[in-house]
Amino acid sequence: MRTQVAIIGAGPAGLFLGHLLQRAGVDAVILERKDRAYVEGRVRAGVLEQVTVDLMERLGLDARMRREGLVHGGTNLASDGEVFRIDMAELTGGSTVMVYGQQEVMKDLFDAAETRGVPIVFDARNVALHDIDGDHPYVTWEKGGLEQRLDCDVVAGCDGYHGVSRGAIPAAVQRTFERVYPFGWLGVLAEVPPCDHELIYCNHERGFALASMRSPTRSRYYIQCSLDEDIADWSDARFWDELCLRLGPEAASRVTRGPSFEKTIAPLRSFVTEPMRHGRLFLAGDAAHIVPPTGAKGMNLAVSDVVMLSEALIEHFQENSAAGIDGYSARALARVWKAERFSWWFTSLTHRFPDRDGFDRKMQLAELAYIKSSRAAQVTLAENYVGLPLV
Ligand code: APR
Ligand code: PHB
Repeated sequence: MRTQVAIIGAGPAGLFLGHLLQRAGVDAVILERKDRAYVEGRVRAGVLEQVTVDLMERLGLDARMRREGLVHGGTNLASDGEVFRIDMAELTGGSTVMVYGQQEVMKDLFDAAETRGVPIVFDARNVALHDIDGDHPYVTWEKGGLEQRLDCDVVAGCDGYHGVSRGAIPAAVQRTFERVYPFGWLGVLAEVPPCDHELIYCNHERGFALASMRSPTRSRYYIQCSLDEDIADWSDARFWDELCLRLGPEAASRVTRGPSFEKTIAPLRSFVTEPMRHGRLFLAGDAAHIVPPTGAKGMNLAVSDVVMLSEALIEHFQENSAAGIDGYSARALARVWKAERFSWWFTSLTHRFPDRDGFDRKMQLAELAYIKSSRAAQVTLAENYVGLPLV
């Protein structure tokens, strides 16, 4: 088999890239280790920046999102129970975010891949990259007991943090940067109306909490927890009690309790590898960088990477110019680092760090009070939250 672009991974990065290339007439094949149900079933964040909304529209995939998604012009911060609103739309000259679960985005992308004939090989085991340093790279995998081979011009490593692509870059030319946070998020989904029409990010003495949603009838809540926590110790009743304590009495009075149908603990990490290109391999999305979920930037960064990568590859294949592919890593990393900074800062502002003392907590509270009183500080938060422009 032969193609122009072998895409490893059918997460948001790989699927959006596959659609972008197909629309431009560039041949690509997506190789995915798991099946569709597994990839689509993973519960992830659900806040789309304008960049992502625009891409859904450009690909003609926005009909259901426009119907079912919730446009948010503001978000809320809470400090020890006192909630204040950041009017993002007013502060940024009209920018908003779209609340639409990543699972819904994935469903729309998979459905369209089927109808438009974007080729995806599911259950591709033991994917391996070969000769990415040379002019004739290829990818091998196993399926149904048979070894398969795909020859290509370039490989797009869109296989997430645990994928194989990043490891194909020699350690000697790779630099990684990492921050592991000393806590996790315990997340719950429940079929109950959200406590607010927007999100609430809470800094509380007992730890961070987040009130989010998937729809007017489905809530997504998180509380900061320690990493050695046993999920079995978190009955629904205990979760709701702790959440309500952290949200404070006013927001808690609007919380509707109900049985959870998803309950997981996720660790928090910041991670970047540089460069995002080696030879004929290009990394995009979580394969190259991870952000803690506090800024809801994970999928949006995967999207900005593949928008840039698709432009570079289309220029390469259609105009025979290397300028775009040569500039891809630096261009993508410039935006990645700004989102890393915001996600790290927003995490630092809102979480309880077990190794820090009373002074650090006073600094957090003073910064929250400053944000509340300063339009300049609110503009800074808002423009980062809605997403920085693609340059
Ligand atoms: N071979 C083939 N596919 C692989 C391999 C492999 N060796 N390893 C991983 N994959 C697949 C995974 O099964 C997954 O479907 O690659 C895909 C990677 O998807 P994500 O982890 O979602 O990464 P990405 O597409 O970059 O999206 C980043 O979406 O899922 C969120 O938290 C993530 O918000 C972040 C954003
Ligand atoms: C979510 O709804 O899952 C969500 C929202 C905002 C975040 C993180 C997660 O910052």
